[in-house]
Amino acid sequence: MMRIAVLGSTGSVGTQTLEVVERFPDEIDLVALVARRSSDRLLEQAVKFRPKIVVSYEEPDKDWISSLPDGTEYMKGDEGLMAAISLADRVMNAVSGVSGIKPAYYTLKEGKTLLASNKESLICLGDMVRKSRNRIIPVDSEHNALFQILEKVNRAEVRTVYLTASGGPFRNWTLEEMRTATKDQALNHPRWNMGAKITVDSATLMNKGFEMLEAVNLFDLDLDTVKVIIHPQSVVHGIVELVDGTFIMHTSATDMRVPILYALFYPERKASPFGRSDLVSLSPIEFEPVDQEKFRALYLARWVGEMGGAYVPVLVGADEEAVNLFLDEKIGFLDIVDLIERTLSEVNIPDPETVDDILDAVEWARRKVNEIYEREYAGRL
Ligand SMILES: NC(=O)c1ccc[n+]([C@@H]2O[C@H](COP(=O)([O-])OP(=O)(O)OC[C@H]3O[C@@H](n4cnc5c(N)ncnc54)[C@H](OP(=O)(O)O)[C@@H]3O)[C@@H](O)[C@H]2O)c1
Repeated sequence: MMRIAVLGSTGSVGTQTLEVVERFPDEIDLVALVARRSSDRLLEQAVKFRPKIVVSYEEPDKDWISSLPDGTEYMKGDEGLMAAISLADRVMNAVSGVSGIKPAYYTLKEGKTLLASNKESLICLGDMVRKSRNRIIPVDSEHNALFQILEKVNRAEVRTVYLTASGGPFRNWTLEEMRTATKDQALNHPRWNMGAKITVDSATLMNKGFEMLEAVNLFDLDLDTVKVIIHPQSVVHGIVELVDGTFIMHTSATDMRVPILYALFYPERKASPFGRSDLVSLSPIEFEPVDQEKFRALYLARWVGEMGGAYVPVLVGADEEAVNLFLDEKIGFLDIVDLIERTLSEVNIPDPETVDDILDAVEWARRKVNEIYEREYAGRL
């Protein structure tokens, strides 16, 4: 039996991971569930899957703990997180945002296999990710697709690696219209149903910027080799162009359970328990260039990739804080990327050497975003 821990089990990727896990009761032993809050959903999952431990960062009340099934122990915070990782062979890191950095770090440090959904950690822990590549299976659909293609081609023959982007809800909006975009409009992703942070990142295309940096670390690529192309249908997840003009594309339904299933069992490929996709339903397949003026986030992410060092965790921390301000309806949609750019222009901290330095740089960026917000943006809306 393969022992799996699911970190961020109550979120979008976490719950879809459990949907896959429950179809393979004879092959997967779900040993641990980790979330931030002691929510009803976490309790329901614990009752259904009866893991060895269930972990939250928020203190549960007595009733919550007494409702846990026999054989399931409750543990709190980082101590619980470490115990969860140590019990597992494979760890699904589906924690959202910068909170996913520590879980990825501990997983790799413990020598476990990381099923990597959280992208902030893959970007910030660049050196560690590059050194641990053989123990990381990407879950993000684009990187999962590229992982599958790149494994099968001669790397010397690769010319370009394309990340596909749906273009988000504002693909056909003008820059002027985007200025007035509301939270509800930004959260209305045309293709994927995901957590709030990644959905807003998909609307600014910062998500795709992050994915470029993720691809560089995961696949040992030059940043110049990685390009972004708009593909509104989101059924082609990754494309590799070879030197002779051949494009190899990976296509599957817009369903995270497909890459999750692949990552859980890699290198074995399991028959999907969720039925087959009809190829005709995946058409049409269209590609468009990215409007660089509308989506400055991509330019910023590429610039950060070239600068490296402290700029990387600062980009990640600044984005999280700016997205929070937008979700709290304190800044406008275009202010997200403006605030990130302002924060990057004020970087005066040393390049991080340890994971604590990385987390400090993230926190520096969050404080700086709030400082600039208070100084220049507060009360504008
Ligand atoms: N959703 C997708 O389709 C998708 C696709 C590709 C990549 N990703 C990446 O996967 C990650 C998860 O995305 P998501 O959309 O599933 O997010 P989500 O729906 O917002 O879920 C986040 C999960 O993380 C938990 N969490 C948040 N802060 C935590 C903390 N400090 N400690 C422990 N657990 C914490 C949440 O627990 P509570 O419920 O208790 O708050 C929840 O279980 C992100 O990095 C995202 O970029 C997502």
